[in-house]
Amino acid sequence: MRKIAILAFVVVSIVTTNACRKEKSQQQDQVTYNPTAMTVDVPAYVKNYVGDMKHPDNNPLTVEGVALGRKLFYEKMLSDNMTMSCATCHKQENAFDDPRAFSEGTNGALGDRNAMAIINLAWNTAFFWDGRRATLEEQAHDPVTNPIEMANTWPEVVKRLQNTNTYPDLFYKAFGTKTIDSNLVVKAIAQFERTFVSYNSRFDKYFHKGDSTALTQQEKNGLAIFKGKGMCNNCHLMNTQLSDNVFRNNGLDVNPKDAGLMKFTGLQSDRGKFKVPTLRNIAKTAPYMHDSRFATLEEVVEFYSEKVQQSSPNIDEHMPDYGSGLKLAKQEKTDLIAFLHTLTDQDFLTNLAFSEPK
Ligand code: HEC
Ligand code: HEC
Repeated sequence: MRKIAILAFVVVSIVTTNACRKEKSQQQDQVTYNPTAMTVDVPAYVKNYVGDMKHPDNNPLTVEGVALGRKLFYEKMLSDNMTMSCATCHKQENAFDDPRAFSEGTNGALGDRNAMAIINLAWNTAFFWDGRRATLEEQAHDPVTNPIEMANTWPEVVKRLQNTNTYPDLFYKAFGTKTIDSNLVVKAIAQFERTFVSYNSRFDKYFHKGDSTALTQQEKNGLAIFKGKGMCNNCHLMNTQLSDNVFRNNGLDVNPKDAGLMKFTGLQSDRGKFKVPTLRNIAKTAPYMHDSRFATLEEVVEFYSEKVQQSSPNIDEHMPDYGSGLKLAKQEKTDLIAFLHTLTDQDFLTNLAFSEPK
C-alpha cells in the first residue's frame, strides 16, 4: 500500500506542476490516493479470547474506506425509490437492529425474519439467521437487490453513485479508482461495520475490567443465574461476544415453520437451527428470536424457564438439561433480566462515529 501511495503522490505532483491545466481539472486531480491504515481499539481481553479483528486480505480497514462506508450505510440511493438505506432497518439507537418485528421493504412488503443487530461482527464467519453468507462483504450485496428490502439493481446503484459530484472522489480516496462497482461499495460498507465494537457495558466493567462496583447485588445474582443454573453461558458465551457464533436449536417449536440453517445447507440435521445471537445490548434490540415471537425479555426468560420444547427437531445438546424448562423462581427471573440490562453499552449506542454523516 505504501508503494501505491507514493506512486499516487508522484502522479499528483506531476499533474499539479503542469501549469497549463485548467483550474477545474486541477481541483479534481488534487484528490489523492493515500489511504491511512486504521485500527479499532479493542480491550486486551477481547484479543485474548477471540484474537485480533479479522478482515479479508483484500479489504483492510482504512480511514478513507470507513468514512465512505459510513456514507453508503446511510445512503438512500441504494434503494429503488430512494427512501431506504441500511440504517432504515439497522438503527444505531437499537444497536443497529430494527425495533419492528418484521422490516418493511420499499414497496411495503414484509420480510419473515427479525432484522439482526450489527455488533462485534468483525470476528464472525457466518451471517444471517441461517448463516448463508460468509463475509460482511458478501452479506452487504444482498439487501440492495432483495425485492422485499431495497428492491434495486446493482447497475442502477452504481450509475447513481457515479453520477454524483462526491462519490467518485471518495472511492478514489478509499480504493484508488473513480470507477465505482458493487464490490467496492460492499467493501466500504463492510469496513464501516467492522468498526462497530461494543465492549463498554457495565457487564464488561465488572466481569472483564475488574470494577466490582459496576453491578448491583441484584445484577450480580442475575449473572450467577446466567452462568450457573440458567446455563445461558453454554451458548451465549461469557467470553466477549455473548454468542459462540454457532447455529443451534434452542427448542422454540415442535414443528419449526422456518427451517433455519437447513434452508442454506439442505440438511435435515440442520432443521430448526439458527445463529446464536449476541446478547450485547439485548435490552435495546426487542423483539426477540428470528421471528420476533417475544416482545420482551420477560417473555424470553419465561420461555427458557417454562416452555422449552424438547421434541423440537435437532434440539441442541445443551437443552436436555433444561427439561421442559429451568423452572426459575420469580425472583431469579427478575434478577436474570436485571443482569441482561447490564449488557447495554451506552457509548456504542451514542458513538458519533457510527451516526449518519453530516
Ligand atoms: C428492509 C430492512 C433491511 C435493510 C434495508 C437492510 N437489512 Fe440487514 N437485515 C435485515 C434482516 C431482516 C436481516 C436478517 C435476515 C435473515 O436472516 O434472513 C438482516 C441481516 C443483516 C446482517 C447479518 C447480521 C448477522 O449477525 O448475521 C447484516 C450484517 C446486515 N443485515 C447488514 C445490512 C447492510 C449493510 C444493509 C445495507 C446494504 C442492510 N443490512 C439493509 C433487514 C434489513
Ligand atoms: C442451546 C444454546 C442456547 C442456550 C443454552 C441459551 N440460548 Fe438463548 N438463544 C439461542 C439461539 C440459537 C437463539 C436464537 C433462536 C432463534 O431465533 O430461533 C437464542 C436467542 C436468545 C435471545 C433472543 C436474541 C435476539 O436477538 O433475538 C435471548 C434474549 C436469549 N437467547 C437469552 C438466553 C438466556 C437468558 C439464556 C439462559 C436462560 C439462553 N438464552 C440460553 C441459543 C441458546
